[in-house]
Amino acid sequence: MVFGVILAGGIGSRMGNAEKPKQYLNIGNKPIILHTIEKFYVHEGFERLIVLCPKEWVEHTRHLVQNNFPDDKVVVLEGGVTRNETIMNAIRYIENEYGLQDDTLLVTHDSVRPFLTHRIIEENIKYGLKYGAVDTVIPATDTIVESGDGDVISQVPDRSKMYQGQTPQTFNAKKLKELYYSLSEEEKDVLTDASKIFVIKGEKVHLVQGEVFNIKITYPYDLRVAESLLNNEGESLC
Ligand code: CTP
Repeated sequence: MVFGVILAGGIGSRMGNAEKPKQYLNIGNKPIILHTIEKFYVHEGFERLIVLCPKEWVEHTRHLVQNNFPDDKVVVLEGGVTRNETIMNAIRYIENEYGLQDDTLLVTHDSVRPFLTHRIIEENIKYGLKYGAVDTVIPATDTIVESGDGDVISQVPDRSKMYQGQTPQTFNAKKLKELYYSLSEEEKDVLTDASKIFVIKGEKVHLVQGEVFNIKITYPYDLRVAESLLNNEGESLC
């Protein structure tokens, strides 16, 4: 079974908007989170879509979902204190409701990346089933500079080997759960995303080509970019 897992458990502190988490801000005429759910909803490959959000936003999100997606394909649950804990809440739900099978697959995606495409979802599912772990990336366009202390450069890695991580990230659910709970607290502290769980444990993560426009809405500037991308969607930019 393949599940879409839409991660909306964050509060969007970098957006600097105290009124509501960024995933509930409008682009076009509806909240970002609805644009994102819609991209998954219209894809025929999912058994269920699981949306995880902050506890105090669960009611509101359920209303949004009921008003826009009339069947019971989309379920809304509470997220966790970290992004990875949010993913673990989804795994717990699937385990309770369906059991974890050897081929249970999670296509995890940031709720604030509304411009993903059908092709990206398709390839995540295809290679997720084949390899068990997939990350969506684009080649780095800027040179990446590493600095250990924030003052001077410690390394300039070869740009041709550098990529920027996007989402979806797709994982075999059993394997992800097993690896996550085998991490030490120190290992958990250095995690920035779920792919790193596999990398730390020496497991392969297959790459899927993302899109430059598959942006994550993080800062107020990104909202303006998102508005303009949305206006161009009809012109097949996205
Ligand atoms: N996320 C989540 N559960 C958490 C933290 C983050 O599901 N405990 C989700 C966010 O809602 C978002 C995605 O992970 O859709 C990417 O994270 P990020 O852009 O960092 O979102 P926030 O944590 O909300 O933003 P900030 O770091 O600015 O507070």
